[in-house]
Amino acid sequence: MTTSSASAPANATVLVFLDPAFEDGRVADSSKPQLMATDQGATRGDGIFESLLAVGGQPRKLPRHLARLAGSARTLELDIPAEDAWRKAIGTALREFRAGAPEDGDDEVVVKLIATRGVEGSALPTCWVQASTPPAAGREQRESGIDVILLDRGYDSEVGERAPWLLLGAKTLSYAVNMAALRYAHHQGADDVIFTSSDGRVLEGPTSTVLLAHLETADDGDGGTRTVRRLITPQLDSGILPGTSQGALFAAAKAAGWELGYGPLVPEDLYDADAVWLISSIRLLAPVNHIDGKEIGTADVRRQLTAELNELFATVQ
Ligand SMILES: Cc1ncc(COP(=O)(O)O)c(C=O)c1O
Repeated sequence: MTTSSASAPANATVLVFLDPAFEDGRVADSSKPQLMATDQGATRGDGIFESLLAVGGQPRKLPRHLARLAGSARTLELDIPAEDAWRKAIGTALREFRAGAPEDGDDEVVVKLIATRGVEGSALPTCWVQASTPPAAGREQRESGIDVILLDRGYDSEVGERAPWLLLGAKTLSYAVNMAALRYAHHQGADDVIFTSSDGRVLEGPTSTVLLAHLETADDGDGGTRTVRRLITPQLDSGILPGTSQGALFAAAKAAGWELGYGPLVPEDLYDADAVWLISSIRLLAPVNHIDGKEIGTADVRRQLTAELNELFATVQ
């Protein structure tokens, strides 16, 4: 298990509310109460969010995040502001957050977009953008890798289609279960979790998408051999959140000659892989060293493939 080192001095979190009276969003003091106690985001966890990374003041994969936010809003029947209002509020939040910070062209900022169903009795969602410092543990885990345990999520892999009210493909604010799974893993001495379905399929992490790589030696048709590199992720219709990082990395990997595959995957596929990662927008690619105590691939191959995919992922805008 990795431990977090001393983190860099954190800038104060910046809040920018989407407010029709303020074209670029209304900046609010994050050290003061800003939300009504009757907001349904607080009373019911009824709302949606996105977490994205801005590097050097530029939000990464913004169109993918805005598209997923709009998809989550449709699923929850939430009438949220148009993309332009979000883009302006994000711009304001990043300017405020970075103002006065030492010049650093590669600084990382976590940008959260949040929309709740609003105050009880009103039909207006509450929407805001939050800019904050990334957790130090994420950076460390990109480097050193993580130990993971498999946990049963208790649903079968077809429940998403059978029971759409579970909102499994939407990024909702109801993350208490995901956070509880992470705490459970920490109590077991692990860093993270891969959920499995009750019918034995590999699903996703509590805050990440599962990726695995298989290397195969194949005939090159010229009397020699070549290495076929295949990147695989669980199929998207198994009740998981479609990851913007997985989507963007797959596009870049395809262009670089990787073959792509989508599950169904079972735990044996993870143990047999040459490398496994948990990928997400803030921590990026975290190589998995062990699952339930079993080493995945070898340290050398994990390091080499992680470096290669990191390079590809850095090209993603
Ligand atoms: C459940 C879940 N799956 C996957 C992801 C990865 O998504 P993304 O790559 O868009 O950050 C997240 C991100 O928070 C998540 O919460």
